[in-house]
Amino acid sequence: MRLDKFICKSTELTRTEAKRLLKSGSVCVNGEISKNAAMQVHENNDITVEGQSLVARESRYIMLHKPLDTICSNVDEGYPSLFHLIDVDKAFDMHVAGRLDADTTGLVLITDDGRWSHNIISPKKQCEKVYRVWLRDEVRADSAEKFKVGVQLQGESSLTLPAKLNIINEKEVLLTITEGKYHQVKRMFAAIGNKVVGLHREQIGHIKLAELPMGEWRYLTAEEVSEFL
Ligand code: URA
Repeated sequence: MRLDKFICKSTELTRTEAKRLLKSGSVCVNGEISKNAAMQVHENNDITVEGQSLVARESRYIMLHKPLDTICSNVDEGYPSLFHLIDVDKAFDMHVAGRLDADTTGLVLITDDGRWSHNIISPKKQCEKVYRVWLRDEVRADSAEKFKVGVQLQGESSLTLPAKLNIINEKEVLLTITEGKYHQVKRMFAAIGNKVVGLHREQIGHIKLAELPMGEWRYLTAEEVSEFL
């Protein structure tokens, strides 16, 4: 991780304060002064401030049931950031592993472990995400086959990867995708001439939102975390 991030993870300092500390020349990495906030460091490097070794806090892994009209960014932009809902120390230093739109509800995974979130969002990992989708028009019989083959999204050079469609009723479906392109689910239904009127993420990998009430969060269990380590 970046050196400024490591300092935040092991002290009470904010990112700005950590950068200021670095500029002052009091931070050493393996015995050498470093002023480079972007320097990549690991937990096993010896990082000191004025001679005192720093020990990074354990990474945190959280699930949140995202309400409507909140955003996944760390700053408020038109809607409040969902980080306001998480009452843990330095909540805003964490990030969301796979953002949802402001008008989408459901499962959001939040962490300060960049490698872990990479395993969820990297297209190469093909992690399954399950969405419950409410549609404007009745779902057509051939939709499942179209999604299985892949559909052409506007502005993309290749078809979507195979996706699974389970029809719950005429206007409600479960869609499982392994990609996370911008507005992917809405664009997939637009590509087959329908329109998403409600969207809710239920599952990421084997991690299920289950009965967690909207607006609430909990720490993931060790077993849940292990899937993406
Ligand atoms: N696909 C979308 O269109 N929106 C989301 O929020 C998530 C997936």
